[in-house]
Amino acid sequence: TEGGLLLAIETSCDETSVAVVRGGREVLSNVVSSQIDTHRQFGGVVPEIASRKHVESITIIIEEAVREAGIRLEDIDAVAVTQGPGLIGALLVGVVAAKSLALALDVPLIGTHHIAGHIYANRLIGEILYPSLALVVSGGHTEIVLLEAEGKFRIIGRTRDDAVGEAYDKVARALKFPYPGGPHVDKLAQEATEEIVLPRSWLEPDSYDFSFSGLKSAVLAEINRSRMKGESPDFSALARGFQQSVIDVVTGKAIRAAKEFGARQMMLCGGVAANRGLRERLAALCEEADLPLLIPPHNLCTDNAAMIAAAADLKWRHGQFSSLDLKAEAVMSL
Ligand code: KG4
Ligand code: ZN
Repeated sequence: TEGGLLLAIETSCDETSVAVVRGGREVLSNVVSSQIDTHRQFGGVVPEIASRKHVESITIIIEEAVREAGIRLEDIDAVAVTQGPGLIGALLVGVVAAKSLALALDVPLIGTHHIAGHIYANRLIGEILYPSLALVVSGGHTEIVLLEAEGKFRIIGRTRDDAVGEAYDKVARALKFPYPGGPHVDKLAQEATEEIVLPRSWLEPDSYDFSFSGLKSAVLAEINRSRMKGESPDFSALARGFQQSVIDVVTGKAIRAAKEFGARQMMLCGGVAANRGLRERLAALCEEADLPLLIPPHNLCTDNAAMIAAAADLKWRHGQFSSLDLKAEAVMSL
């Protein structure tokens, strides 16, 4: 597999992405076609529309990724695909495309876990030191994962209701921002001069789980309270309060877990890693704890196929291939 060419496909949600990666770490192309503009008018991702859009773009994106990489399709040595978790109809499009390619080119197929992809995106920017602690925050996931060794994942904590990005998007909607509103709330929070202090959801003292639905409700309650009094709610102070609560809890738990499990490194992964407040706080806490921190650039944090290649490469090295009856899995354990 040294220097081998891997073509990876990711279609678990609303991005159709195909990448060509050499030797697991050298990204030759990473084409991402986002459907955001289509879904925005509905205020969120519509699964049925997502599947149809993937069908329309998948072959075009494969061709584009191959062309951009400057290779021929016949040069591909293995095909990787996100097997799950995600929207089942969306996953199916990628899985069928990957199987067809593997069959036609007579090369191995490697089914890959989406979260392993988000985590191993860090292989594309640096060296992973085990044990490593990953904080995965996206629109669909919020997890603290301990990597005890290569390919050995242990979920230490997860959200019991909304994912962080989902909570951001719901609060953003209440503050009248378009979908996806996370970046707008982040910006408003950064600019705020006042803060409405909101509760912190720490759950049980020893728990690494999260819950954000109470915090979201607290924001809505504040808005209603202002309106009842005939006042207009202070959106920026609310955004600030929401953001501070999220950052306190998420970074607080990640650092505590890193210490408890003796992690040698921290990794921040997923689309919410774009949040400036979150990055800055985690960087400060890691420095204090003398813990090296890896954060991939934005295009490798949001859904993309290069991260799937980075994870699949490790399975390839260990000869962990999938058969052609690989099934897409909406729910899948790491
Ligand atoms: O990883 P991603 O692109 O898609 C999923 O796999 O879910 O993450 C998208 C999520 C959205 O919920 C979006 O609002 C949120 O990440 N997001 C942010 C920021 N940028 C994106 N949330 C807070 N602050 C940001 N700067
Ligand atoms: Zn994702």
